[in-house]
Formats: sequence, structure tokens, C-alpha cells
Amino acid sequence: MRADPKIADPRLYVALDLPDIEAARAMVETLGDAVVSYKIGLQLLPLGGTEFGRELKRMGKNVFLDFKLHDIGATVEKATRSITEAGADLLTVHATPDVMAAAVDGRGDSGLKIMAVTVLTSLDDTSLYDMGYFNTVEELVMHRVRQAVDIGVDGVISSPLEAKNIRKIVPNNFLIITPGVRMPGGDKGDQKRVATPKDALRDGASHIVVGRPITQADDPKAAAIEILANIGNY
Ligand code: C5P
Repeated sequence: MRADPKIADPRLYVALDLPDIEAARAMVETLGDAVVSYKIGLQLLPLGGTEFGRELKRMGKNVFLDFKLHDIGATVEKATRSITEAGADLLTVHATPDVMAAAVDGRGDSGLKIMAVTVLTSLDDTSLYDMGYFNTVEELVMHRVRQAVDIGVDGVISSPLEAKNIRKIVPNNFLIITPGVRMPGGDKGDQKRVATPKDALRDGASHIVVGRPITQADDPKAAAIEILANIGNY
């Protein structure tokens, strides 16, 4: 697909988990033409993250608003409709059936794609049990993926280690976006279940999200280019 690692690959979303919009803007400038897709999350949301997403769209970037909506259906529907105004490409909601259906209604025929967060990657079987869910993470992930497909959301967020099983049961154009991506031998930080960029894509991810390995690197652009090289022509 692509031979030159210096050419941006839209499948790499860089998570702008940074303290303020100025820092995010500076990071986008530093990464320059190496990165074309960005994720804006809850840290920037209260500081003008949605408006910053508009600014990125004007620069020709792909924008993923990782706001993880979870509320009563009517509220999720209205919030999603408001978010369509921002012109972003992707929005996350939690993967309960009512929330997913409301988000699908709210996005209407806008270009916004709805991504369902199956089970947060910070949770394990014990945490689910403590919350009153008597499934394993794997069972709950697969259950929610089937519901997501039935309801008509566009894709799911999952651990890279779940991508392979998910890919087997979803339509070809269904998006699977995986955080928890690390270079071989890289520092895992608080990520428990990790894969390399190439392995995540090989196992069925359509896109990967990488944050700190790029944004906290001494040379963020070089770190991004290293990841693009790892993806190679895959
Ligand atoms: O770890 P990294 O900085 O690459 O994280 C990128 C994204 O992965 C974060 O924006 C967050 O949404 C997600 N994440 C996760 N599980 C963790 C930590 C972060 O899914 N334990």
C-alpha cells in the first residue's frame, strides 16, 4: 500500500492527550506532514477540544473525537447531533445497546462515524465481576460487538489482542480501532495488553491509536516515522 515511511498513513491516529490546546497545536505542528489523523479525548474536551477538532479539519486532518458518550438515549442522540456540527470523522460512545442506537440516530446522514467502546482496556475479569457483570472480558467484548453490528454503528474500539476474533464476525468495512500499540521492546506504561503497530493491523485492526510513545518522545516526529516504518507496506 505504501512504501515511504515518511508519507503519512491515515491508519495511524495520534492521541493528543496533552494539557492544553496550545500544547496540542504545537504537537501537530511538530509532527507536520508525518501524521494526518488525530484523536482528541476527554483531557482537551473541556478546554475547547471540539473547536480544535474543527481547526484540524480545516488543515485537512482526520479527526477522532474520543468523548465516550454514555447517558440516556435522548441525551446521547442530541449530543451526537450537536457533535456532527464539528465536522469530525469519528466519535466514541459506550457500547450499551440504547446508547449505540441513540448515537446512530443522532448522527443521521452526516459523515460522522460512530465507534463503540466495547470494554475499557483498563478492566479485567475481576473488575467486571466487581461491577456486577458475570462474563469474562472476552465474552462481553464479543457480545457487544455483535450488538454493535446489529445496531449499525460503524466500528468498535478494542484491545489489539481482541481484534483477530472480532474481525471474524464483522463485515469487511467494519472499523476496528486499537489503542495499546507499542513498538517492539517499547515501554508499555499503564497499557496491559499490547501489540506492535504491524501486528495490530495484521490481526484485523483498521486503525491504531498511539499516544505517549509519540507525544512524550524526545523527537515525536522521528517516533511517528518509526511507527510508520513498522507498519511498512502492510
Ligand atoms: O498509551 P497511549 O498514550 O498510547 O494511549 C493512547 C490511547 O489509548 C489513550 O488516549 C487512551 O484512550 C487509550 N488507553 C487505553 N488503555 C490504557 C491507557 C490508554 O486504552 N490503559
